[in-house]
Order: sequence, then structure tokens, then C-alpha cells
Amino acid sequence: MNAASDAPVRIGLAGLGTVGSGLVAILQRNAEWIARRLGRRLVLTKVLVRSLGKPRAVSLGQGVVLTDDPGALVGDPDIDIVVELMGGIDAAFDLIHQALCAGKHVVTANKALLAARGPELFALAARKGLGLYYEASCAGAIPIVATLKESLAGNRIKSIIGILNGTANYILSSMSDKGLPFAEALRKAQERGYAEADPTLDIEGLDAAHKLILLIRLAYGQNLPLARLFVEGITRVTPDDIRFADEFGYVIKLIGQVHDADGKLVAGVCPMLVHKDYLLASVRGAFNAVRVEGDASGPIILHGKGAGDLPTGSAVLADIMALSRACMVPNNTGFLTEPLPEATLLDPMDAVCPHYIHFTVKDQPGVMAAISKSMGVHGVSIRQAVQKGEPEDGYVPIVFLTHEAAERAIQGVLDDAADMPFIKPGTVHFRVL
Ligand code: NAP
Ligand code: HSE
Repeated sequence: MNAASDAPVRIGLAGLGTVGSGLVAILQRNAEWIARRLGRRLVLTKVLVRSLGKPRAVSLGQGVVLTDDPGALVGDPDIDIVVELMGGIDAAFDLIHQALCAGKHVVTANKALLAARGPELFALAARKGLGLYYEASCAGAIPIVATLKESLAGNRIKSIIGILNGTANYILSSMSDKGLPFAEALRKAQERGYAEADPTLDIEGLDAAHKLILLIRLAYGQNLPLARLFVEGITRVTPDDIRFADEFGYVIKLIGQVHDADGKLVAGVCPMLVHKDYLLASVRGAFNAVRVEGDASGPIILHGKGAGDLPTGSAVLADIMALSRACMVPNNTGFLTEPLPEATLLDPMDAVCPHYIHFTVKDQPGVMAAISKSMGVHGVSIRQAVQKGEPEDGYVPIVFLTHEAAERAIQGVLDDAADMPFIKPGTVHFRVL
């Protein structure tokens, strides 16, 4: 980057889809304001896309070169910061790798890439003394990366609990508040630009898992490979379970969480029943929220738009501005050692919380007694149990809320249930926050 503290900072942008267009719109709209804060201008010089002829949501303005050649971006000596907003793994990895090798700072929103191959890229950035910033990769507009890396840097983080995927939250809110079917709610989330190019990442919990892996790295200085993280999506959440949960006083949310249990991390992503009294229960639509508890700070909740063009563009721009400040010293992961060690996890079977179990059973005597006996054998204590509705084809739903129980004990009950001839296969089990 030009050492003169008032020289313009030249930006090469890779990707002009939802987030890329949002970033360009803010750069244009707030150009004077940004220059006033930085004391220098941010100038977009080149934009990389896949299809040159595609109509765009923003016009780039005079002098900005549109290209479909990644080499033209990373090989351009006049570009100071490469902003990667393409998504995907391989092409994005190559682009960022080449940009860092060419001595350019990088900003990305690509959580899938940083979860899978972050350690290599952070190690390279550290060797080169360059910035690899990624505020937009976690929870859209919410400044959770800076919060963990800087604001709470002196705290030992006790726990992080988050609604980290806007699409999943939009779908669950639309199903419960408006009675929309799952597929229609997903289609609307895609139309609004919240979903990933491959929306299975959103609905299968993987996008939230990628974000949780980044938050664990920032909070605990440990790398957690995706294969070691418990991940369950929202595709098994039905209108019936949303209704039963509501009657018990809960809403269902896709939650990503980690807590420190005496030096071992307990982490996972799954749909959970959240009591309506909790702040997280009132997070609606594509909004996200993250509750972080530091040993000194106590609990902090950040809430805001978790996806979309301008909210995500806002977070990308914050990183560009941080890297554009004169005398900037890069702080990528918040830790000086690279690579960071692999995470120490508690066996997920030892994780403890209350549980929700929905059996579909034959409406006959002895069923409730058999299930209750199995719970007793496995040491699972029942908090509430209800039989709902009229029999359909001779079957009725029986729904249990338990007191706190270990995952291993609940799996024992579910295994017993699978052998009971009067219980239909497909018992539904969710955890309770
Ligand atoms: P998008 O709308 O699909 O846009 C992707 C852009 O990248 C398009 O302009 C595409 O070009 C270009 N592109 C893709 N592959 C390319 C390649 N190999 N070479 C050159 N250009 C390529 O995606 P998005 O929603 O903006 O998301 C971008 C990134 O931000 C992803 O990593 C995503 O996970 C992350 N993110 C998204 C959101 C959100 O709300 N959407 C929020 C936070 C983070 P064409 O237009 O020519 O096809
Ligand atoms: N697809 C992501 C979501 C985009 O819905 O949360 C924001 O990371």
C-alpha cells in the first residue's frame, strides 16, 4: 500500500453479486464520509465476475474495469486490497492465496473457505505481515469478529450462543409467525439474497457451523475441523413441533453454541427450543443475535441484520477501512501464534441440557408407562408430558420435555423407542436451550 497516509487506497473486488453490489452501493453513497474518517479515499479500480454480460444491480462508474480474469486482479500492482466476495472454496482460495503472495491485504466474507482452509491462509498472511480480515463472514452486519478479537480480548470467554444463519431464522420465523410452508419460506429467503448459492448450507446448519468455527477460533485460539463439530439443520422442524413447542412456552431456533467446560469445549449447531422469555427467542426474520459471556465483561448480546446486500457490505467496508488506516498493524485471528492448536472438545455424548422428544404412538394402554420406564432406566427425569390431539390412523403424538439429561441417556431412550412396536419410526428429538 502507498506509504503516504493521504494516498488513495485502491480496491480490487472479486464478486459483484448480493454482497459485492451492496459494498459498491455504500462506497458510492458514503464516499465523502469515508474519506473524512480515513483522511484518504477508497477507490474501486477493478471488479472480477464470472459473466461479463450479466445485468448488475449497481453501475460501476467511470474508470472501473470489469474483468473475468482473476490474474488481472491479483497481478495488478496498483491494487492495495483485494476483496473476495465470490463464495465457494477452490477459486476463492486460489485468489486469496495469490493476493497475499502478491503482498496485498485481503478482505473476505467467505466463512465456508475460512472454516475449511483458514489455518493455511492465516499462516500465510502472518508470514507476509498482511491483513486477512473477515468481519462480514459472521452474522452479517453484527461486529462480532471485532468484539471477540479486540473489545473482549482480555476476557476468558465462558460461552457464545448465537442465531448465526439469517436464512434459517427467516424460515423458522415465517413458519411460526405466518404459517408459511418450509419450501415457500426458503424461496422468499433466496429472493431476498439471504441464502447461500447452495442453500443446503443454510438449511442443513453448515453455514452456521462455519461461522461457529470462526467464532471458536477467535474466542479460544483453537482450530476446530468441521468433521468434529456436531451439526444438525432445520429440515426436520415441522409445523406440529413449532406448535407443541409454542404450547410449552418455547420457540424453535437454529442455535450455534460453544461453552468452556473446565478447559474442554462443548460445541454444536442444532435446532433448539428457546424459552419465550429469552432475548434470543424474539430474534425474527433474517436477523441474527450473538450472546457472548466473558469472565470479566459478563453477558453481552449483539443483535442485527445477519444477511443481505447493505448489512453485509457494511461489515466488509469496516474491514477495508481498518486495513486502510495509516500505521495499521494486522490483527487477523487475535492471537500471535500461527498455526493455532486443534480444539480440545468434550465428548458430545457427555453434553447436558433439557430435551424435547415427540413420539408418534399407537393410542393404546401401557404406551406412556413403557416410555416412562425407559426414561427411568436411563436416568432421564420428565418435566412435562402431554398427549396431543385425536388419533389419526390409530396413532397420536406424545410429547415430553425432560429436565437436564446427558446426550448419552437420551440416545438410550431413543434406542429403546426404536425397538418398541407401538412407536412409529421417526421420533423427533430437539435439545432445549
Ligand atoms: P452471489 O450473489 O452468488 O455473488 C457471487 C459473485 O461472485 C457473482 O458476481 C459471481 O459472478 C462472482 N463469482 C463467483 N464465482 C466466481 C469465479 N470463480 N470467478 C469470478 N467471479 C466469480 O454471492 P453473495 O451472496 O454475494 O455471497 C458472496 C460471499 O459472501 C459468499 O462467500 C457468502 O457466503 C458471503 N456472504 C453472503 C451474505 C449474504 O447475505 N448474501 C452474507 C454474508 C456473507 P457473476 O455475477 O458473473 O455470476
Ligand atoms: N446465507 C447466510 C445466512 C448469509 O443466511 O445467514 C449470511 O452469512
